[in-house]
Amino acid sequence: MTRVFVPRDSAARSVGADEVAALLERAGGEVVRTGSRGMLWLEPLVEVETPDGRVGYGPVAPEDVDGLVAAGLLDGTAPGLGLVEELEWMRRQQRLTFARVGVVDPLSPDDHEAHGGNAGLRAALALPPAEVVGAVTESGLRGRGGAGFPTGIKWRTVLDAESELKFVCCNADEGDSGTFADRMLMEGDPFTLIEGMTIAAHAVGAREGYIYIRSEYPDAIATMRAAIAAARERGWLGERVLGSELSFDLHVRVGAGAYICGEETSMLESLEGRRGQVRAKPPIPAIQGLFGRPTVVNNVLSLAAVPWILAHGAAAYAELGVGRSRGTSVFQLAGNVARGGIVETAFGVTLGELVNDFGGGTASGRPVRAVQVGGPLGAYLPVSQFDLPLDYEAFAQAGAMVGHGGIVVFDDTVDMAAMARFAFEFCAEESCGKCTPCRIGAVRGVETIDKIRAGQDREKNLVLLDDLCTLMTDGSLCAMGGLTPMPVRSAVQHFAEDFR
Ligand SMILES: Cc1cc2nc3c(=O)[nH]c(=O)nc-3n(C[C@H](O)[C@H](O)[C@H](O)COP(=O)(O)O)c2cc1C
Ligand code: SF4
Repeated sequence: MTRVFVPRDSAARSVGADEVAALLERAGGEVVRTGSRGMLWLEPLVEVETPDGRVGYGPVAPEDVDGLVAAGLLDGTAPGLGLVEELEWMRRQQRLTFARVGVVDPLSPDDHEAHGGNAGLRAALALPPAEVVGAVTESGLRGRGGAGFPTGIKWRTVLDAESELKFVCCNADEGDSGTFADRMLMEGDPFTLIEGMTIAAHAVGAREGYIYIRSEYPDAIATMRAAIAAARERGWLGERVLGSELSFDLHVRVGAGAYICGEETSMLESLEGRRGQVRAKPPIPAIQGLFGRPTVVNNVLSLAAVPWILAHGAAAYAELGVGRSRGTSVFQLAGNVARGGIVETAFGVTLGELVNDFGGGTASGRPVRAVQVGGPLGAYLPVSQFDLPLDYEAFAQAGAMVGHGGIVVFDDTVDMAAMARFAFEFCAEESCGKCTPCRIGAVRGVETIDKIRAGQDREKNLVLLDDLCTLMTDGSLCAMGGLTPMPVRSAVQHFAEDFR
């Protein structure tokens, strides 16, 4: 029987993948459920195994199945998209972290191993902890959750901290607008995240780990829980991992819908059972984190990049990228874009290449006017900045940030003053309330922009707005209040005409 692959990723399920899978099974296909390849405009994307590789069909609606089967879908001869790996969207990428996503059955430990899984963990367990930390440092890996802090330095701090008890926490709160890579990795290749966290545990001397997942991700939660149970059964978690000296176990904890719980100290508060409120730093979590113990807090993508680094060597990872942004990152195209989805490629790709070459411009067919990169606290950039390379330092110099790699596209109907207002409104809604510049400043920001839009003392209020932005940047306790001025200022700078 031919193997037919249908994603079980929630993006594919939301457009009918379950029904398509059931119909294909009834038609005689041996259906294997996978993650998504990240070409979201082609979902549900059905792939058929052939001697040359997997042939793709998509988007396949339930009502298309009979016709496609009659035309030869089950042996890959029906006219379709051709070999999936040969599609330009796929060929132009360098999939290291996402190599198995969309390829393997996410809950099959055998599939994980058959596709190179656990090679990184085995390599790590053969090394002393300090050498594992050394490899991560040499790879140049920086945190993919937003701040871009070097992962090796963070791990070194936890390794050097003296404590009987240490933790590894994975931040899977993924609250940024236009981001979904954490979710896709957890739903499409959960064993790689487990592997990355286990390597981190060995590297720093932790015995216990937590994955903090937002409640809006029921499929990711269920997949991670099932994968953890399967990993325990295989001896990949628990006492003596893979027969080594390491004991490490993992637990999933579910958030309750607050954006601020993605901020690492708020996440730790929430994990401890309290309301998600930011803690003052220092002490940093690497010294006093979960339950006051030294804790690694890393994003899903940071941890999931580690197995590749250990399996293929730090130098191979560091070879990719530009400047101090090494390796690949998983960029996410969303908003008003013709081809939305996941692009994993080396740092240095330009904004224009991502939005136009991969994304195909807007879905509405109108000209692109602005893109917001790095979530709700990221800058709005005009088309004139499309030569900007995706690189932490280049973005910082342009008054922007790469953040978690989300890119939200807007066409020429967007009102940028309304978007600036939204940044303050979002901050007012999501502020944890601990410090005044953010709690009060966000509300004053909304009021000031309303006055500007109403033409009330416009010049005076623009100066006031700038003052408020300086105060929030300099005076906020965390990056929530500290970065809200970024979208506001970039909107005023690049789209001044919308404030007149
Ligand atoms: C308001 C706010 C929200 C954040 N949300 C997330 C999030 O959803 N996921 C994440 O990984 N990091 C988030 N961060 C960054 C974390 O505080 C932290 O830097 C990160 O989890 C560290 O992991 P990394 O070094 O692997 O990036 C957020 C930060 C702030 C200020
Ligand atoms: S900046 Fe905002 S979210 Fe951060 S601690 Fe202050 S009030 Fe809380």
